[in-house]
Amino acid sequence: ISKIAVLTSGGDAPGMNAAIRSVVRTGLYYGLEVYGVIRGFSGMVEDDIRLMESTSVANIIQRGGTILKSARCKAFFTPEGREQAYNNLKKRGIEGLVVIGGDGSFTGGLKLSTEFDLPVIGLPGTIDKDLYGTDFTIGFDTAVNTAVDAIDKIRDTADAHDRLFIVEVMGRHAGYIALYSGIATGAENILIPEAETNIDDIIAALSEKEKRKKLVNLIVVAEGDEFGGASEVAKVVKEKLPNMDTRVSILGHMQRGGSPTCVDRILASRMGFHAIECLLQGRKNVMVGIKDDKIAYTPLEIAIREKDKINDEWLRMVKILAS
Ligand code: F6P
Repeated sequence: ISKIAVLTSGGDAPGMNAAIRSVVRTGLYYGLEVYGVIRGFSGMVEDDIRLMESTSVANIIQRGGTILKSARCKAFFTPEGREQAYNNLKKRGIEGLVVIGGDGSFTGGLKLSTEFDLPVIGLPGTIDKDLYGTDFTIGFDTAVNTAVDAIDKIRDTADAHDRLFIVEVMGRHAGYIALYSGIATGAENILIPEAETNIDDIIAALSEKEKRKKLVNLIVVAEGDEFGGASEVAKVVKEKLPNMDTRVSILGHMQRGGSPTCVDRILASRMGFHAIECLLQGRKNVMVGIKDDKIAYTPLEIAIREKDKINDEWLRMVKILAS
């Protein structure tokens, strides 16, 4: 193998740049030619593929977003689109691909690899932490710290006004940002897509707190919870507890931006380095993860399909600590 390509795809995540830098510099160290594909699979279809040098990735380790840009590509989901994409790699002699992204991006990579026998290595790049086979994904630590920072600020104003705040964090299908940021900010309740919510219990607890004048309360809701986000939860609460001064705050895309934390930079650097080692060893169609601080390889289809179970003990603890 002498030429490879790297791309970022799907929702961006802080630390993607650190991962790109690591892939490019490790590849160059081993004498490979490394290409960067712009805007994920869209750029592959449209032939926006650029040769990378060491200087192409200078001064990016600390930057959020992705210098390669990202997109969700419709054309790639047709056989013709994928053929065109593959031909654009083939004409340059590219023999391996590193995909930095989440499950949708891995699905695209897997299609390419099975249809054209191209080795694909996945790096888990998503703030959602919803890929199987790794303890953490690139971007999660930064996103969750951004959420914690924001919720701490919300707590200040909640405290000043004796208010209940219902805060929505990202996670359409995964509740890890809600779970971690909720525990770290002392939330009364955390609503996530993976666990059933007993709204009557929540209302009962809030009304009991109202009676004993514990009026500053935070509820953290993942955008994909069973009610459909913080505004919907607030409707129910306001209806049942009309005297409670309730506000909603939706944190939104701020959670995807910003300078990556040290944890994310190191995670991304280690994973990028191992992606190249993988390709050189002849591995294909695996995700490079880190489990118990050790590099772990998981077949892409398993990384996409399987889900880690949320630890019930964490949810039990939330209730106890909020009492
Ligand atoms: O996959 C990361 C993520 O930020 C999810 O948490 C969120 O639901 C989704 O992307 C939002 O995607 P978009 O930026 O396309 O609206």
